[in-house]
Amino acid sequence: MADTKRTATLTLDGNTYDLPVLSPTVGPDVLDIRKLYAQADVFTYDPGFTSTAACDSAITYIDGDKGELLYRGYPIEQLADKSHYLEVCYLLLNGELPNKEQMADFEGRITRHTMLHEQIHNFFRGFRRDSHPMATMVGVVGAMSAFYHDSLDINDPWQREVAAMRMIAKLPTIAAMAYKYSIGQPFVYPRNDLDYASNFLHMCFSVPAETYTVQPALAKAMDRIMMLHADHEQNASTSTVRLAGSSGANPFACIAAGIACLWGPAHGGANQACLEMLREIGTVDRIPEFIARAKDKNDPFKLMGFGHRVYKNFDPRAKVMKESADEVLDLLGVHNNPLLQVAKELEQIALHDEYFIAKKLYPNVDFYSGIILEAMGFPTSMFTPIFALSRTVGWISQWKEMISDPAGKIGRPRQLYTGSEGRDYLDVENR
Ligand code: CMC
Repeated sequence: MADTKRTATLTLDGNTYDLPVLSPTVGPDVLDIRKLYAQADVFTYDPGFTSTAACDSAITYIDGDKGELLYRGYPIEQLADKSHYLEVCYLLLNGELPNKEQMADFEGRITRHTMLHEQIHNFFRGFRRDSHPMATMVGVVGAMSAFYHDSLDINDPWQREVAAMRMIAKLPTIAAMAYKYSIGQPFVYPRNDLDYASNFLHMCFSVPAETYTVQPALAKAMDRIMMLHADHEQNASTSTVRLAGSSGANPFACIAAGIACLWGPAHGGANQACLEMLREIGTVDRIPEFIARAKDKNDPFKLMGFGHRVYKNFDPRAKVMKESADEVLDLLGVHNNPLLQVAKELEQIALHDEYFIAKKLYPNVDFYSGIILEAMGFPTSMFTPIFALSRTVGWISQWKEMISDPAGKIGRPRQLYTGSEGRDYLDVENR
């Protein structure tokens, strides 16, 4: 964070206050209001944090107007084209791309952490069979703090590192087990001879009764989905992880909090909600009815998979995801899928509709990822768990960055109080 020595001046009730202007490496300047309350006895008001930077971070950068997403400075399009998920994990965690030895070492360490403590299997069996896999994941990831006592000390950098490795390695196993449990099939153990994405597909789709061979093109598409979801700056779930972590909570508890936040339909739950919406629309002729509902101020309905808080031009992840969707659908030969026809038509209508153009609402990453995952054979309930396992590296990188910052403080927003003024308690007979 470079200090440019510029200041902004706030005038309030005849008094002036200087607010330092801080300059990031790229992106808009930031007004430093940290001393404002002490000096002027006022808070700032910004529900939804639309104009508030809550931390310094060197991990991910988004330019919403340009439709740009950088992981540690590298454009997402280049990473999606040339890199792979575990290399992206290394980059996000460590700040630089690994050399060959570093990559082999990292891959080896992740691979050797993929199995879960056997007793966690019993823990799984406590959930109802029809539990949503996200519900199971929130519970199991939170419960990891009861199983891995040797990586709970947040003040020990080595334990933080081990917790990070464990989560990146075990989240696919947990997600796959949540899925298998929900469909009544036996858990499938990880296979260390497979790459990260192939291993996940294997744990989801293989059964003991027959051989399952992972199609390399599907593994590549899965790996790309993981890369595109790996981090996204200070979004709701990442901010949740940071806020939970700011109190000193252990890393497993913090990631469980992030998973819980991601589940909401305005965030990671949008991929499931989007597919359900496409099913509800059903046929192309019903699209105008749903477009009309999306525009109606009195109707809470929103087009799922459209819009974004930061991207106001296009979502660069959606562009890559759309290409992947075309490749996967070609490979699987599912062009006549009615859901896909509805999706394609909806995309075209919304992109040319005045309302969506004026409000800068474009298809986001969740619009296309659901289509790919559906074609691969995942039920909608697995869409958000796949987002969660992919985002775990982003959450843990941001958590580690926060914990290693010596200037870190507990997150504690203020409020604009609108309740009653102080009043005296009334005995029940006088109310
Ligand atoms: N359909 C119809 N209208 C919309 C939509 C939509 N999907 N999204 C925003 N609008 C309208 C909204 O009603 C508002 O209109 P007005 O200015 O007249 O009040 C205007 O556009 C601005 O929207 P907003 O709700 O103030 O924007 P926000 O930044 O608070 O919300 C969002 C962003 C992503 C939550 C929202 O666009 C949304 O709910 N989209 C659908 C859910 C979705 O696809 N979420 C996934 C986001 S990408 C992946 C992720 O982050 O997890």
